[in-house]
Amino acid sequence: MDGNLTPETVRLAYRLFVGRDPESEPMVQHALSYGTIERLRTAFFRSPEFRGICQSELRLAPTPAPPPQQAVAPPPLPAQVPLDAPPLDIEWRTDAATTTALLAHVRDTWTRLGNEQPHWSVLSAEQFRPDRIDANEAAFFASGGNDVAQLVAILRRNGLEPAAFPRMFEFGCGIGRVTAHLARTFRDVTVCDVSASHMAMARDKVYESGVHNVAFKLAASDEFGMAAPFDLWFSRIVLQHNPPPIIAMILRRAFALLAPGGLAVFQVPTYAASYRFRIADYLAGLDAEARIEMHVLPQPVVFQLARQAGCEILEVLADASAGPVAQWNSSIFVLRKNPG
Ligand SMILES: C[S@@+](CC[C@H](N)C(=O)[O-])C[C@H]1O[C@@H](n2cnc3c(N)ncnc32)[C@H](O)[C@@H]1O
Repeated sequence: MDGNLTPETVRLAYRLFVGRDPESEPMVQHALSYGTIERLRTAFFRSPEFRGICQSELRLAPTPAPPPQQAVAPPPLPAQVPLDAPPLDIEWRTDAATTTALLAHVRDTWTRLGNEQPHWSVLSAEQFRPDRIDANEAAFFASGGNDVAQLVAILRRNGLEPAAFPRMFEFGCGIGRVTAHLARTFRDVTVCDVSASHMAMARDKVYESGVHNVAFKLAASDEFGMAAPFDLWFSRIVLQHNPPPIIAMILRRAFALLAPGGLAVFQVPTYAASYRFRIADYLAGLDAEARIEMHVLPQPVVFQLARQAGCEILEVLADASAGPVAQWNSSIFVLRKNPG
């Protein structure tokens, strides 16, 4: 066998390394973008899921227990776009009726995931499957503290403090993994999610944690859950699950509602070698039982939307949120709305 990847070798690799089939066809496509068996194998070796199997099921020498805030294994190193990478074929504009249809698919998929395996749908590591969550739920919720610590570090690198952002908005709160941590750091927090099942859990969790400065909004297609201005807009591992036209519309809405001088800090994949998005093909292939999808919005489009809304770019940071076997380029953008 030569080193080239095929869909069949990807499926075989999944079964060999993590004992299961890929969760979806897009994940097979992501894995194919590694290009060679050697690179795919390295990605598996680095993935939290494979490491978890080595420790718990094969009973290899245990590594020392990490402190609670590091209980979720760090993601692999960010992927890099080769300098000679070709353009991607991505349709990212559409009409209102198509927007409604696309968002309805996102809503139905995530509502079902929230009912079936809520924690795993947020962080797809084996220890967060329903049958193992009792032992691992504390680590799951503690992990949100890292997201907030990183957000505060981003603010401070730019000479800013959380107190300068009294109205913070978390887009795609999931089951509240990050929310209570945000609520302890910012004065008023508004969160939204497209999935009622996730949001119900987030509400309970936040209430249990004893914070009372969080407002919850369900995200629907006209406003995407965003109705009033905010000083800081934050979103991680959310936009990537939406088709490109929806990502673009969410960003437009968020930038429009960002107060003068306000900051947007968000993550989105911007390049994946095997990725393509054609609206007609996508709609024709929609599956009511769809699993987690991954999508891309090219970096020049993010910059274009920012420019149009009067936002300047403060930082673009490489990140690895696009998944353990997804050789996708993903970035965290830090944008500031012009003070007026
Ligand atoms: C992987 S989870 C991440 C949750 C949270 N950001 C975290 O880091 O714990 C993705 C969440 O985004 C939500 N989501 C996906 N698309 C959305 C959209 N268009 N509007 C609002 N929420 C969305 C899903 O319902 C899900 O709860």
